Amino acid sequence: MKAAVTSAPAKAILFGEHFVVYGKPAIAAALKRRVRATSTLNDVGEIRVRSMLGYSSIPLPCTDPYLYEYDPHRHIIFSAASVMRLLNKHVGVDILLESDFPYGMGLGASAATSVATIASVASLFGSISRNEVFRLSLEAERLVHRNPSGIDSAVCTYGGLLLFKDGRIERLDARDGYNHALHALRFMVVNSGMVKDTGAMVMKVKARGESSREEFASLAEMSEALTMQALYAIRCNDLARIGELLTLNHGLLRMLGVSNDTLDAIVCRLVKNGAYGAKLTGAGGGGCIISLIDEARSTMLLNALGGYETFISGIEDDGVIIHRMYT
Ligand code: MEV
Repeated sequence: MKAAVTSAPAKAILFGEHFVVYGKPAIAAALKRRVRATSTLNDVGEIRVRSMLGYSSIPLPCTDPYLYEYDPHRHIIFSAASVMRLLNKHVGVDILLESDFPYGMGLGASAATSVATIASVASLFGSISRNEVFRLSLEAERLVHRNPSGIDSAVCTYGGLLLFKDGRIERLDARDGYNHALHALRFMVVNSGMVKDTGAMVMKVKARGESSREEFASLAEMSEALTMQALYAIRCNDLARIGELLTLNHGLLRMLGVSNDTLDAIVCRLVKNGAYGAKLTGAGGGGCIISLIDEARSTMLLNALGGYETFISGIEDDGVIIHRMYT
């Protein structure tokens, strides 16, 4: 049986989420957690998807995304259908998604699953460039929320530490070959256990921007300034400064209205117990906290965090990977 196995990494936005949707810069990293997609052909003429979200099946041709608008796998069905359209293939495909990071927690699961799916389905029929994977994943992300900046799809496709600025993507960790200092950064990711809704949070921020334009513009400028200062601190490998800026960025997101008491309390505990800095990551309203830490302090931090699910990660080098083809 023909099968293609691919994977894509989780992502964490370090600086600039939400404002990146309005053209401001952002910095994000791929993390060492991955989602794996296994695609096989089927002879029932359907796209069938299985993941921790359940099971979906849609008959081909699935040309109208509104027909599966409420399906939890809508972006996966859309991704598979758009690859097949691109490659002019119209056959049934089974897609199995297995993730070692949680969905709906701000770690880019929707982008990572669509990136891995696109590469996997394309590999059944031929090949596809990374740029094309990125482009199709960005289209799929539009089903999750209407106006994605593209940062999630970019990190999950290309990996590494990315600066997203003026519509351009720059890989910061590969500037002078492999950058050991950046790859030595250690992040503790803490799952708040509160599922967030990216679309709802992006809409909330949009409404805020429309109702208080001046305040929104000044928050956006602060976000830009923080991100550019962080870029400098990252280039100087100034961990204390990066941490300070992370915590300041959390404060800014709090002012924007996308934090809550639980997220604030986790940030507070991390900072009080020796993290360089911490903030919510992604859309907010729940999801994960990302903190920059000295790994030697991880036991102390874990004790202070009580029962929250956590993991420690450096920056993941690889974006989407094609692992295996079976015939
Ligand atoms: C979501 O991971 C990040 C947001 O900035 C939305 C986007 O960039 O598309 C909230």
